[in-house]
Amino acid sequence: MFSKETYIGRRKVLMQKLQGRGIVLLPGNSEAPINYHANTYRFRQDSTFLYYFGLPISDLVGIIDTDTGEATLFGDDFTVEDIIWMGPQPRVVELAEQVGVKHTAPLAKLEPAIAEAVARGREIHILRPYRGDTRLMLEKIVPDAFLAPSEMLIQAVVAQRDKKSAEEIAEIEKACAIGHEMHLTAMKMCHPRAQEREIAGAIEVIALMKGWGTSFHSIVSQHGETLHNHSYNGILKEGRMLLVDAGAESVSNYCSDFTRTTPVSGKFTTKQKEIYDIVLAANNHAFSVSAPEIRYVDVHLAAARIIVEGLKELGLVKGDVEKAVSAGTHALFMPHGLGHQMGLDVHDMENLGEQYVGYDAETPRSKHPSCSACRMGRRLEAGMVVTVEPGIYFVPELIAKWRTESTCAEFVNFAAVEKYLDFGGIRLEDDMLITETGNRLLGKRLPITTEEVEAAILPS
Ligand code: GLY
Ligand code: MN
Repeated sequence: MFSKETYIGRRKVLMQKLQGRGIVLLPGNSEAPINYHANTYRFRQDSTFLYYFGLPISDLVGIIDTDTGEATLFGDDFTVEDIIWMGPQPRVVELAEQVGVKHTAPLAKLEPAIAEAVARGREIHILRPYRGDTRLMLEKIVPDAFLAPSEMLIQAVVAQRDKKSAEEIAEIEKACAIGHEMHLTAMKMCHPRAQEREIAGAIEVIALMKGWGTSFHSIVSQHGETLHNHSYNGILKEGRMLLVDAGAESVSNYCSDFTRTTPVSGKFTTKQKEIYDIVLAANNHAFSVSAPEIRYVDVHLAAARIIVEGLKELGLVKGDVEKAVSAGTHALFMPHGLGHQMGLDVHDMENLGEQYVGYDAETPRSKHPSCSACRMGRRLEAGMVVTVEPGIYFVPELIAKWRTESTCAEFVNFAAVEKYLDFGGIRLEDDMLITETGNRLLGKRLPITTEEVEAAILPS
């Protein structure tokens, strides 16, 4: 948690943006049962609640009154019954004091407070709930007229959260340092006959020992072509590559997100190195062109150009590179976007709606195949944190579909591509801060050239 002044300052900015527009209602998360009520998933606070009210504690609701400038924290004090199981707990007034909130009330007073505000003709602004219990609670206490997510509130929250302050960057860098250790550990353990499961376990322990835990389910797989592969059942085989996409949260819930791809045999084959170096060139190129005012969709397309050029040199792509990129040929090999914003969420603010976080009126979401999978397209601004994660994958089912449907047949040499059906996939992901003059890498760079990666693997 930051000092109370941080949260007071953040709420003040939000109040000023919505001045005179009524009540902002920000529910925190509740505990979520796994298989019976008392056996819960690890509690993770809602990120917008964390941003304005800082408290990583369940069953709290924050209200910001944009007319009076006052915030109220609704919550119930723990009873002796709770304390028997959980130990002594701070009272709601003490929690409120930690984040500079002067007014508190029990949860039972929330519904009447909303009803009274509505009766006095005031607006209620909410965000889109992403959990069932929050949705049910809002449906119970918020009149239908205000149940749709407030565009005004979403835009104000995004405008604030997408520019990271120095103290937020310091937290993200803590998460990057943990992520660094996780990935070095995975590289060291990458040997024939090692189990994906033991590598996944070893790196997740680091996230728990050094921070809050992982920022998402780690991807640890020698089937890197499956983008979000959450199975850890594989046993590493000579000749394959291990793709690890994993990150950590700092104790204050700021995230990191890195991907590296390591040869199981200890050395990349020529075929692997050729593809790897194209992905690396795309990653480096993204860093060389990202700066304020540059649209991220254009950085995505610049990376796509590098990928298509490289694959053309290998004979997998043919024809004019520019036309191939315009037709979306790269989507056969990289069926995802170059990156996403990162902060309190690993995909920062994704719950608020991609059209507000990754796009805007100037850069609306496109359905065009060259960028249809991009989460982030709009102009970069100083203070934004984005991931840079180009990849090249050979997905047999996708290749077969494109061949059958003659998709981009003018640009794809299918006979050559089909020699890579058992190749797997390579992704190289780093985290980038946009600065006033350009950008900088967050954290110390993990081994990334083929030589650096080979040197990071411990002899088996
Ligand atoms: N690192 C996982 C993702 O960005 O989706
Ligand atoms: Mn990512």
